[in-house]
Amino acid sequence: MSLRAVVRGVGHYLPERIVPNAEFEATLDTNDEWIRARSGIERRHFAAEGETTSTMATTAARAALKDADLEPSDIDAIVLATSTADLTFPSAATMVQADLGMDSGFAFDVQAVCAGFIYALSNANALIISGQAKRVLVIGAETFSRIMDWTDRSTCVLFGDGAGALVLEADEGAGTAADRGILSTDLHSDGRHKDLLYVDGGVSTGTTGYLRMQGNQVFRHAVEKLAATATKAMERAGVAPQDVDWIVPHQANIRIIQGTAKKLGLPMEKVVVTVQDHGNTSAASIPLALSVGRDRGQIQQGDLIVTEAIGGGLAWGAVVLRW
Ligand code: ACO
Repeated sequence: MSLRAVVRGVGHYLPERIVPNAEFEATLDTNDEWIRARSGIERRHFAAEGETTSTMATTAARAALKDADLEPSDIDAIVLATSTADLTFPSAATMVQADLGMDSGFAFDVQAVCAGFIYALSNANALIISGQAKRVLVIGAETFSRIMDWTDRSTCVLFGDGAGALVLEADEGAGTAADRGILSTDLHSDGRHKDLLYVDGGVSTGTTGYLRMQGNQVFRHAVEKLAATATKAMERAGVAPQDVDWIVPHQANIRIIQGTAKKLGLPMEKVVVTVQDHGNTSAASIPLALSVGRDRGQIQQGDLIVTEAIGGGLAWGAVVLRW
């Protein structure tokens, strides 16, 4: 027997404002065709004035709690993946805790840029299997629209805002790959690649800063590292690619998603794709894809899921779980 962190509920939130690619044509030397062909993105959501990472995270968390048929007081911990917390501190997670009306438990943010949700899942899994928490809200939420340089066509057309959340609950499993819940995790980072993707502001500059990315350089690392970490996580879980029902990748670029699936020997029919509708929502992209994939009827209880992401750091990793 072994303790497993099992998904009990899922939910998401997307801001009301939808921005199609064509909207950028008015202010930038770009067009819908280029953005679609190079990234697979057709539209993205942008937060309204007054909407923040923590407000979107709270709405997604409420949806996940409702789906799990639980109250905020049933939750022991909140782990929130974000690189765009409302303030330098306190954490967005503690703001969500307050907004949910929780007066117990503990909450903290995890910052691993686009790999944030993988790192948050791994942290939440560790809290559950070590007995420190029984039920954990794991949230990914971002307002990347607030760190865009609107004059830089190579970045500002790629990102979007949103939030997704899972409720994980401790459950006894048999200790085999047939168990529901998180079966394995695999994390990596390599800080030597800092200059490929970073925000040029922060405490050291006294500004919020803007995202800077050498997209084609990040691309070079992505497929290889994502396929390697997904393979390692599958080996750890004791499963093979042919056992997998769904890959739920970080939604940065359709060409990275396709390249990684191909390298893993899996057809695109087994990949949950939302990048066309959400753009790259960084740490929110995987929980958004899990929630949308479940709502579409793609992801069903018992399905074996491989989820993987890479982002600034570079930081990357994968999680294998049975829904
Ligand atoms: N419209 C029109 N032309 C453009 C645009 C645009 N919006 N943006 C760039 N171009 C031009 C470039 O200037 C360049 O022109 P040049 O050849 O005259 O110099 C040309 O298009 C090709 O540019 P590349 O950057 O080489 O294009 P590429 O095919 O690599 O696609 C993209 C760019 C979409 C950014 C891709 O590299 C990518 O997706 N990279 C990975 C991004 C990623 O996964 N990031 C990790 C997660 S994000 C995070 O952690 C926060």
